[in-house]
Amino acid sequence: MSDERASLRHAGGDQPLDVFVGTEGERGLDIGRLLSSTGMVALDYGFANTAWCRSAISFVDGEVGALRYRGYPIEQLAAESCFGEVCYLLFHGELPSLAQLDAWREAITVETLLDEGMRQMFDACPREAHPMVLLAAAVTAMGAFHPELESTLAAEQAAIHLLAKVPTAAAFAYRRSRGLPYAYPQRALDYSSRFLQMTFSIPGEDYVVDPVAARALDVLLILHADHEQNCSTSTVRLVGSSRASVFASVASGVNALSGPLHGGANQEVLELLQRIHADGGNYAKYLARAKDREDPFRLPGFGHRIYKSYDPRAGVLKAFADQLVSRRAAQDPLLDIALALEHAALTDDYFVARHLYPNVDFYSGILFRALGFPTRMFPVLFALGRLPGWIAQWKEMTEDPDTRIGRPRQVYVGPPQRDYLPIHTRG
Ligand code: CMC
Repeated sequence: MSDERASLRHAGGDQPLDVFVGTEGERGLDIGRLLSSTGMVALDYGFANTAWCRSAISFVDGEVGALRYRGYPIEQLAAESCFGEVCYLLFHGELPSLAQLDAWREAITVETLLDEGMRQMFDACPREAHPMVLLAAAVTAMGAFHPELESTLAAEQAAIHLLAKVPTAAAFAYRRSRGLPYAYPQRALDYSSRFLQMTFSIPGEDYVVDPVAARALDVLLILHADHEQNCSTSTVRLVGSSRASVFASVASGVNALSGPLHGGANQEVLELLQRIHADGGNYAKYLARAKDREDPFRLPGFGHRIYKSYDPRAGVLKAFADQLVSRRAAQDPLLDIALALEHAALTDDYFVARHLYPNVDFYSGILFRALGFPTRMFPVLFALGRLPGWIAQWKEMTEDPDTRIGRPRQVYVGPPQRDYLPIHTRG
């Protein structure tokens, strides 16, 4: 708490409010006694003004376009770290020593197999099912196969299981959709290479991992690893606040992420670029639709609740997209459309006035496509990246003595009390 005080003037008097100041200078009014002292609640659609926890995991400065994990800028982590190390950092709070990182990697590697019973779950689902649905079901099912890890006392072991098994489940979801036999994890490979092997290897053929593709995937995962109290992370915390297990909480996060305004946006971006391509490159039509208030269409991959100048993740990805796509024999025409669309939007009054810039999903889809993933896998890849963030946030929430079960208030606007009418008396 700081020395600063604020006060709320209302019909019943003045309510003094403490001001809590974070390490980066953000200031939060403590309204913890608002209801008991004033009889009023705070009404805040979309929690746009509400901090509902203190967190030491990630920090976003939307004004300057900065994102840091445990204090480290993501540009540095994307350039010099690897996803396994970032998982360790998010979970433990500090970068590991070499010995700690080796032990962490080894612990994850030995847990990468799924219980064979889970294969039947994938087989029982229709091939057409969206892989995000399969992934959420698989994470829920992990709770059934590992009930011994549901206690908060087993948090580190549960984290290791999730980090190890979720990529295997994600690859199984892909192979189910293609009717391919499931591929088991090769222990000698690193995290991202192993995921590529489980996803793309063909029985009877040697699979050689492309190191550039594996590094690109690793960077993509790093960039998605945590992002403050976004929709899916808040969902993980909200579900976990009822003391539901980490498996139940993370499965809820996967479901929250699947929506087109959140992790489903990368799939939407690619589908839009494909539509524009099929339409002869007419991106202006979709730009006009996005600006039309009568049309619910929004330009996917643009805009962000927090970033109002630039999304640093999109900056790193754009450079990577240029590099990766240029390695292909044929240039991807969708990248050209994306660049033209981005330029048009960035110079359009509507987008400029509303501070709408490309977000992480605008370029991640181009990269996922260059890596060979079908569009329906894009949100799954986002989920793989966000997994360590969800786990770290769940752990932080369970360890915070101030955590209470999440239970927002409402302002009721329905009918006032009235008497029940027997059905034969209703007109
Ligand atoms: N296209 C057209 N107009 C937009 C867009 C867009 N993509 N995004 C926001 N606006 C307009 C919106 O209509 C509103 O206009 P007005 O002030 O005239 O009513 C204004 O900009 C402010 O928008 P908002 O809805 O108040 O912003 P929000 O903070 O509630 O929503 C958002 C943020 C990301 C959901 C939204 O920008 C959006 O729907 N973007 C497209 C979906 C997308 O790319 N989602 C991925 C987000 S980043 C990855 C992640 O964390 O999931």
